[in-house]
Amino acid sequence: MDLIRDLQACRAATLDLVGQGDPELWFTQPHPQLSPIGWHVGHIAYTEALWLLPEAGRPALGNPALFRADGLPKAERGEALPSAATLLTYLAEVRTAVLHRLQQGNWAPEARVGHFILQHESQHAETMALARQLLRWPGEQPPLKPVPGGEAEALEIPAGQYGIGYDGAEALDNEQPAYTVEIAGFRLGTGPITQGVYGRFMAAGGYHQPAWWSPEGWAWRQTLTLEQPCYWQPGRPQLPVCGVSYYEAEACCRFLGKRLPTEIEWEVAMTSQGLPQAAGRGGMLGQVWEWTASWFAPYPGFRPFPYAGYSAAYFDQAHRVLRGGSWVTRPWARRPSFRNWYAPDTREIFAGFRWAESL
Ligand code: AVJ
Ligand code: FE
Repeated sequence: MDLIRDLQACRAATLDLVGQGDPELWFTQPHPQLSPIGWHVGHIAYTEALWLLPEAGRPALGNPALFRADGLPKAERGEALPSAATLLTYLAEVRTAVLHRLQQGNWAPEARVGHFILQHESQHAETMALARQLLRWPGEQPPLKPVPGGEAEALEIPAGQYGIGYDGAEALDNEQPAYTVEIAGFRLGTGPITQGVYGRFMAAGGYHQPAWWSPEGWAWRQTLTLEQPCYWQPGRPQLPVCGVSYYEAEACCRFLGKRLPTEIEWEVAMTSQGLPQAAGRGGMLGQVWEWTASWFAPYPGFRPFPYAGYSAAYFDQAHRVLRGGSWVTRPWARRPSFRNWYAPDTREIFAGFRWAESL
């Protein structure tokens, strides 16, 4: 069964990700907005048990609220966690019970639930990779590739009707239902903005010049001391920018005389025929997540799955959509219709952006 194979491949990668380094770091909060690594390990197991095991057969570990996303505040999670060995045992116990149930042959989860669990672990693995990076464990730089092509290279997409979204079993609730939109023509950069281009924004005083910022962005900017993106790599102008907030992306686009694409423009450009390889699946998709101008909001006919808290809780005009995927995004969460979302002031993520303009 493909689900079993994929669950095992995903888990091997997760264990590899958290397996080295100082175990103390499992209990350290890497950032005020992030949980310690050990919490993610428990939460992955807890969520898998919740959706793939009957209540009576669910292994449990301590206070059940500990591993719920709406349980303890993030700052209190580290101290409440059991040991790394106990967390790993819980993770393995849940998995053994799940495999046993899947291999019984007389029970198969609804395909969507299985895919949800796979993508859930994938997404938390990405957050653990952020934690590793922020805790300097093991201290490597993001392995980004140079962006091919010049900054002026653009895709030109004519006005028309285009399909958006995806109805497959792998699709998360927020990608469904697929629908058709009518949009105006636009141009989109063939790759993410490079450090070289962003460096011009910095050199022009971008972080100190309110003219290029939105009022909300400038208000946020003044609360912090900022000089460069979170994962800036000096002396590497060809690399994509990594580790910027929506506000920084928006300001840099305005400095360039451009704007951010909407998420619809982004998806249309990625799925259109005749796309240069450099911009599509084979090329720059999977370097950095890319901020879009769009608020995270439901598609017409949206139905929550598997629970309203997954997507619907964030349809609040306080989260912007990111598209694409980073180098740590696993295959199960990497497709042109996939919608990620964060608050616009989040900058410790592996996020960049590309420019757009109307025709
Ligand atoms: C969409 C990546 C912001 O990690 O908080 C994981 C995904 N939702 N468990 C997050 C998610 C529930 C979510 N992001
Ligand atoms: Fe989760």
